[in-house]
Amino acid sequence: MIYLNGKFMSIEEACIPVLDRGFIFGDGVYEVIPAYSRRPFRLTEHLSRLQHSLDGIRLKNPFSNEEWKNLLEQVIAKNDPEDQYLYLHITRGVAKRDHAFPINVPPTVFIMSNSLLPPPGELLSSGASAVTALDNRWIRCDVKAISLLPNVLLRQLAVDGHALETILLRDGFLTEGAASNIFIVKNQVLLAPPKSHLMLPGITYDVVLELAAANQISLEIREISEREVRTADEILLTSSTKEVMPITLLDDKPVGTGKPGDMFFQLHALYQQYKTTHMRGLPADNVKT
Ligand code: PDD
Repeated sequence: MIYLNGKFMSIEEACIPVLDRGFIFGDGVYEVIPAYSRRPFRLTEHLSRLQHSLDGIRLKNPFSNEEWKNLLEQVIAKNDPEDQYLYLHITRGVAKRDHAFPINVPPTVFIMSNSLLPPPGELLSSGASAVTALDNRWIRCDVKAISLLPNVLLRQLAVDGHALETILLRDGFLTEGAASNIFIVKNQVLLAPPKSHLMLPGITYDVVLELAAANQISLEIREISEREVRTADEILLTSSTKEVMPITLLDDKPVGTGKPGDMFFQLHALYQQYKTTHMRGLPADNVKT
């Protein structure tokens, strides 16, 4: 069951007019929110990032946070899986094709749910491979825009190279993955690129930084050069659907020992523990709730 413009219906029934600006211009923003044991994870943070994206494209938020929470809970309740990921999408609505913003047009609001499966165990124990590419996206990558053509083309490079993700480099520095954030580890220090307009401020990225800080893991948030990426002891990938994953092969070369490293195992365990606390609705003692 999905939600579209005020109604719940099956995905097969859901239709969008061809003049929707999402279809014509990719004029909209989205969020992907995991729900574990039917509880939306980090909802406040996802909704504040949604507000940031809406502000970035000058589109008024159609709902208050309370209304969003209520809608998302209804979508979760109408779908079977205990663990779901919610996809929420807002466009600038339906109007005659014209680049200029339409006046007094209601936005299109769409929410769907899919089952959320944790990454397969083999991938966690052996690690995944990644390729690198030049980050040729626009310079508002902090906006979670539905116009994802550059990300789609960049991710396809990974698929073509039988890899999981494409790691992006701009002006010789690491930005993020085509659909994930990227960390590296050098000499037991976790290194993260600083948030900027050149990357999406990942919700999972924040959780990992908080877990690191709360568990005395050495951490540096600073620009990471291409050379540092290529000589890292470990590379870690994070996203709402992939959680924390080890990258053990980069452009066909082993990363460090070529096996998932200690930092990965430690952060992965802390992340699972944090998720469990969240699922039980308990306050987390190792990070903020
Ligand atoms: N993508 N960077 C980009 C470009 C992303 O698309 C994503 C997530 C992330 C990680 O953000 P978070 O930890 O909040 O999921 C970083 C989602 C999962 C997607 O588009 O499907």
